[in-house]
Amino acid sequence: MDFYEVITKRRSVRKYSARPSKEQLDGLREFLRTVKPLDAGIRVEMIVAGPESVRKTHADDAVLFYSESKGDYLLNCGYMLQQVEFYLQTHGIGVCWMGMGKTTFEAPEGTEHVIMLTFGIAEGSLYREAGDFKRKELKQLVHPYFANDALELARYAPSAVNTQPWRFRDGGDCIHIYQAEPGFILKIAGVFRMNCIDMGILLEFLAVIYEHNGKTAVFAKSDAPKISGLTYIISINK
Ligand SMILES: Cc1cc2nc3c(=O)[nH]c(=O)nc-3n(C[C@H](O)[C@H](O)[C@H](O)COP(=O)(O)O)c2cc1C
Repeated sequence: MDFYEVITKRRSVRKYSARPSKEQLDGLREFLRTVKPLDAGIRVEMIVAGPESVRKTHADDAVLFYSESKGDYLLNCGYMLQQVEFYLQTHGIGVCWMGMGKTTFEAPEGTEHVIMLTFGIAEGSLYREAGDFKRKELKQLVHPYFANDALELARYAPSAVNTQPWRFRDGGDCIHIYQAEPGFILKIAGVFRMNCIDMGILLEFLAVIYEHNGKTAVFAKSDAPKISGLTYIISINK
């Protein structure tokens, strides 16, 4: 199974029956060296941590993400760690983004702990039953509505508390991508910050979908219209 195929099968796994094998962990470390950044100017570190330093999660193992806190570092984090989520899911390992997770690992100098991906051998199925996704319809995300196959698939991306903050507008030869404000309760719970990571996850989904369709996703800031309640993030070629 490749990254594209896993889009319609993946699910968050929160119950684990065992830890990954040494070979699986070695494979993961190798893969981490190949993860592509959205912004190569932001220094990041991804660390594979075990039970000695992973706290407040159901898993013993996690990929800890550290980053310089500058520019679009949360977007960059989502984009990079989603590649790791896809890698684990296509290598028989259950995984869950864990904004609530804690670690005793000390942040490398000049970086902050952003989030972690917890993982392990899934208790039960790694994948979901077909059609079992709880997601907004594309019509709720695109105004005025236009059909788009890439967006239709990208909306399956995971997001904090399943908030699905992405919204889209037609920009002629491109699509403008916006982030919706969370409701009041979620906002005070810190979900806006998590939603910035979600937006990076969405961009990685789009990159995989475009590549599958023989295209390259090109992300660039453009002169997108201001829309009340939405924050403009970036645009993508059609
Ligand atoms: C940035 C981010 C943070 C998340 N934090 C948590 C968390 O702290 N605890 C948890 O159980 N799930 C967490 N999740 C998983 C989401 O709840 C899950 O992705 C969403 O409900 C959609 O379900 P699915 O991944 O099974 O498709 C997080 C997901 C993302 C993208």
